[in-house]
Parts: sequence; structure tokens; C-alpha cells
Amino acid sequence: MKTIGIGLAGFGTVGAGVYENLERHRDLIAERSGYSFDVRRIVVRDPLKKRDVQATSGLFSKRWQDLLEDPEIRVVVELMGGTTEAYDLTVAAIQSGRIVVTGNKALLAERGAEIFALACEHKVPVFFEAAVAGGIPIIQSLRDAFVGNRIESVHGILNGTSNYILTRMQEAGMDYPEALAEAVQLGYAEADPTLDVNGWDAAHKAIILAALAYGFWVDPSTVRVEGIDRVSAADIHFAKGLGYAIKMLGSVRVIDSLVEVGVAPTLIPQSNVLASVNGVFNAIAVRGDLVGDSLFYGRGAGRGPTSTSVIGDLVEAAHILDAPRGTYGFSSHGLYGNNRPSDEIIGSYYLRLSVDDKPGVLARIAGLLGEAGIGISSVVQPESIAGVETPLVLMIHEARYGKMRETLAKIISLDCVKGSPVLFNVESLT
Ligand code: NAP
Ligand code: HSE
Repeated sequence: MKTIGIGLAGFGTVGAGVYENLERHRDLIAERSGYSFDVRRIVVRDPLKKRDVQATSGLFSKRWQDLLEDPEIRVVVELMGGTTEAYDLTVAAIQSGRIVVTGNKALLAERGAEIFALACEHKVPVFFEAAVAGGIPIIQSLRDAFVGNRIESVHGILNGTSNYILTRMQEAGMDYPEALAEAVQLGYAEADPTLDVNGWDAAHKAIILAALAYGFWVDPSTVRVEGIDRVSAADIHFAKGLGYAIKMLGSVRVIDSLVEVGVAPTLIPQSNVLASVNGVFNAIAVRGDLVGDSLFYGRGAGRGPTSTSVIGDLVEAAHILDAPRGTYGFSSHGLYGNNRPSDEIIGSYYLRLSVDDKPGVLARIAGLLGEAGIGISSVVQPESIAGVETPLVLMIHEARYGKMRETLAKIISLDCVKGSPVLFNVESLT
């Protein structure tokens, strides 16, 4: 039995979960892995705060530098979140030769290229299974198990909070703020839940998945990211009538040697398995040229699932301390090396407008789409429902996103179109 000293930065939902579950399953982890983990110091913002998980008070500190001043700490577990101090700690830990385990997707999506360059330089791994999809082992699967595949696409419901909110709105008829408050209370949301609902948390995860699949870090500023704040009960209802569910979908794929990455509310066929992924559950569908279609499903957030991934990484770190392997958590392979600007990405769309109920309106809208070379696959004029007067729903296929946006700007300037339009992606996922 070997004991590995670890330093925990962060004792919130995930950090406290890791501490609690390392204690709870100490014997099990030791039996199954041959290692025991000794938390030697815990860094928090407020060491005096009352906490629901109890740890020895002498372990708490406000200074992350303390973790690097203890030679017995061999692994630094960064669960503070954010991209400033978390970055400083990660860099300093790597430079000091300590393995880093992190759940910080924002940090990796924004600064992954630098962090892994440093990790390679110092021959120190950075593990991040908890950063994407909570308890689902998607990082190891994509990076290691599927290493022999050319990855064709990865589609996923990557944010537990937004999926939870959409599910509660759909199934319990809850309104948006109430469902969000529940997700925060359950520990699913980020410290700043804006990132969950505006799509950026899912985008950070999609960028990480793209990096593993295609070997380079996509610049976040080039990714189209839309949140669930525009999804209304009315659109969920109209989509259902058309045979679709609305999900916040992360899409990563390669077309003609360019990688496409995006996150947006998306209509997916009710018959597709992703349509029945509800609550805090995440699911990721990976298509590889050898493996074909694989589906990963599990809880995407919360204490138990996320600490599961961190503990798995700790055991991996312990093995590497015993027998270094020459892999550092991410290898750039530059298979494609570039991503398609979001305006150039071709997609299909659900467009919902509110219009004047009089003859000729549809012809004017169809005329503008026709002039832009954009085809309509179907038109529905559903009954008005709460909050949406005289709706007109158009299903549009195969248009460049930039062209679609340009044309939409012309459509909404028509005097017969009222209020704000709603434009969501449609994915057949075939
Ligand atoms: P959280 O509940 O907000 O906890 C953050 C912890 O870090 C708190 O203990 C806080 O101290 C401490 N902290 C924050 N900034 C600090 C600083 N500058 N110096 C020292 N301590 C600091 O966050 P969380 O939900 O556990 O998430 C932690 C990380 O895991 C984030 O990167 C998040 O994206 C990721 N993650 C979260 C989940 C999830 O389900 N929540 C799942 C996967 C990944 P105080 O307690 O004193 O405030
Ligand atoms: N806030 C994130 C979510 C946590 O809801 O998915 C898991 O990364």
C-alpha cells in the first residue's frame, strides 16, 4: 500500500465531494487501486466558513502557494474554478514537478494550449476527467480507448444545469428562474451560473472534446455559442409538434478537413436517443471511422459523479508517479489544424416568427429566403399560445449560418414581422 500526499485547492461542491468520498471509500480505493490518498492541505477563500463536509480545521489555508511548499504533496487537485488564480496555481504546480488534476474546463478551453505545452516541457501530466460531463469517462475514452480511430463527430448534451432546466420546464411546467434556482441548490451550476445558461460551460467542454479528437485547441472566440435563455415553453411545444425535442447540443465534427465546433439550442428528432436524455444527465455520441457509433451516458454534474472522475484521475496520477509513461494528458496531433468560422458552417434551422395574420406575408418571407438561395423544407402556422401571437414556423435546410443571419435581419425588418425571431439549429443526427 502506498500513500500519496495531495493538496486540494477548492472545497466547494466538487472539492468537498472529493474529500468526503476519499474518506468514505478509503478502504475500497486502497483495495482496488493499491493506493491511499492523504489530503495534506485544503485551500479555500474563507477558511472560517461553516461547511457541510467536515475536515480537520488545521488543513485549511487561504494561500494556494502553501500546496507547493509541502514536499509531501505530489499531486495538486485544482477545484477552485476561474481562470486567474487557477491558472497561476496550475502553472506553478507543473513547474514544481507536481501532477495536476483539475475539473476546470474554462481554464483548459481558454489556456489549454499553454498549459499542455508546459506540461510536456516539464514532463508532468495534467488530468482532467472531471472537466467534461461529470462522471462520464469521456476524456479517457476519446483520448486513449479511441486512439486508433479517426473521429468523425462528437455530439453531446454537455451541460447538466441547462438540461435540468429544460427538463423541468418541459415536464413540470416550471418557469425558467425557478428551475435555475433548483439546479443551483443541487450543486449542478457553476459558481457563476450565467456560464451554464449562456452556453459557455458547454462550449468549454466542446472545445476540450475537439482538442482530444482533432489534436489542437480551437480559439474560443471563433466558436458559435448560444444559450438556453431564448428557449421558451412555446418553442418546446412547437418543436414537439414537429417531432423534435429541444436540447442544448454541443457539436464537434470534421467536414472537408476543417473542424466545426458549436453549442446552441438544437432541435433533435424525438426518436434519437439524445432526445430522451433528461435532468442533470449528459450524453455524448461519438462517431469514429473504426468503432462506428458509441454513446456515453451519465450524470453530468454534482458531488458524487464529479468526485468519481477526480478520484479516477488521482489513481492514474499515483500509477504515473510509480512508473512515468511519457504522456501528459493531451498530445497535439494536428490532424486537421484548423476550424471553420461559424458563419461558414452549413446547418438546418427552425425559424419562428410572429407575423401579421394577413395574405401575402408568407410570400414576402419566402421571397427573401429564395433570393438568398435558402430553401424552406416546411412551413407551419400553429395556433397562438401564451406569449406568442400569430406564430409562423419555418423549417429551413442547408444554409450557411452567416447567410441565414443576414437574411433573418432582412426578414425582421419587414413591417409584417413582429417581435424577436427565434432561430435554432436542427440536427438529424443520422
Ligand atoms: P464551488 O462550489 O464554487 O467551489 C469553489 C471552491 O474553491 C470553494 O471552496 C472556494 O472557497 C474555493 N476558491 C475559489 N476561488 C478561490 C481562490 N481564489 N482562492 C482560494 N480558494 C478559492 O465550485 P465547484 O462547483 O466545486 O467547481 C469547482 C471546479 O470544478 C470548477 O472549475 C467547475 O467548473 C468544475 N466542475 C464543477 C462541477 C459541478 O458539478 N459543480 C462538475 C465538474 C466540474 P470558499 O469555499 O471559501 O468560497
Ligand atoms: N455546471 C456544470 C453543468 C457542471 O451543469 O454541467 C459540470 O461540469
